[in-house]
Amino acid sequence: MARVLSGIKPTGKLTLGNYIGALRRFKDYQEANETFIFIADLHALTLPIDPKELRENSIDIASFYLASGLDPHKTTIFLQSAVSEHAELNAILQNYLYMGELRRMTQFKDKASKMKDEAIGLGLFAYPVLMSSDILLYDSDIVPVGVDQSQHVELTRDLVRRFNARYGEILKMPKAEVPTTGAKIMSLSDPTKKMSKSDPKGDIFLKDPMSVVKKKIMSAVTDCGSEVTYDPVEKPGISNLLTIYASLEDIDVKEAAKVFVGYRYGDFKKAVAEKVVSVLEPFQQSYQEIKDGRLYEEALKEGAEHAKKIARKTLTKVQKAVGLLVL
Ligand code: TYM
Repeated sequence: MARVLSGIKPTGKLTLGNYIGALRRFKDYQEANETFIFIADLHALTLPIDPKELRENSIDIASFYLASGLDPHKTTIFLQSAVSEHAELNAILQNYLYMGELRRMTQFKDKASKMKDEAIGLGLFAYPVLMSSDILLYDSDIVPVGVDQSQHVELTRDLVRRFNARYGEILKMPKAEVPTTGAKIMSLSDPTKKMSKSDPKGDIFLKDPMSVVKKKIMSAVTDCGSEVTYDPVEKPGISNLLTIYASLEDIDVKEAAKVFVGYRYGDFKKAVAEKVVSVLEPFQQSYQEIKDGRLYEEALKEGAEHAKKIARKTLTKVQKAVGLLVL
């Protein structure tokens, strides 16, 4: 049985990009694998965040996990901060990733470029070390993520090679699994940019009212011409909408393009909006019920207990390997 691990950072409102690139795929792993899905709340502290907002976002993600079909009897769902082994492994592994490598990370460069040097926390710079710790603690084989996180998984692989070359076969080699369609959903207002939690313009949030979802899709930026064809370079707007449709319909994007041959842009957008609403509406209802009934609480408590057992084993193995005295 393979081990699968992934997580989402509770920094802002979850987007349709998070849903398509990651969240909706998690449940597909839980039948045939041992699956660990967590809330990366320590990662959320790497940029300034209001404490109340962080708590609310964490509850939202837990509720969205359950609403997406993750079954706590099959998948271990937990808060990163509730399993202290993440921070403990981080303290060891930070010595095996180097400044030059961390400085080259696209996510860091993007975020740091918008900030003054004095405002960039050490945690933001060292972010990939904690992410590697998350992955390696559970001997994960597969890490389902969107394209923007695959560089961090690659760095984790470098770390495993480096660490194992020095200490023997201690850490398990993980692999990122990126979806063939929908690995990078773009903004509806600027289809050359990624849809992201920190950029509210042109993003569809999972908590948006359906009327807003429809409006955002109907006013999505489109391209010259009038035919609905898949061409991310010449027609990034239309291609993004086709990708959203194809992902939610579970078909290939080329197949989706065939469905819309002869459609005008307006009718095409209407069909995409209907598709998105048909998925998000019941999802939102279920999320609300779970949240109101606090159904996430027990799942998170039990999940953390189980996660801790597995994580402790790996941590002890690593502590011994590097020469820490474990009594
Ligand atoms: P985060 O919270 O930024 O994003 C969660 C997941 O959503 C994917 N994603 C997208 N996919 C497609 N299109 C988009 N526009 C889009 N935007 C985001 C991300 O690729 C991700 O899979 N560092 C991680 C959280 C994390 C983690 C881990 C993930 C911490 N430790 C260990 C896996 C394994 C993050 O910030 O994701």
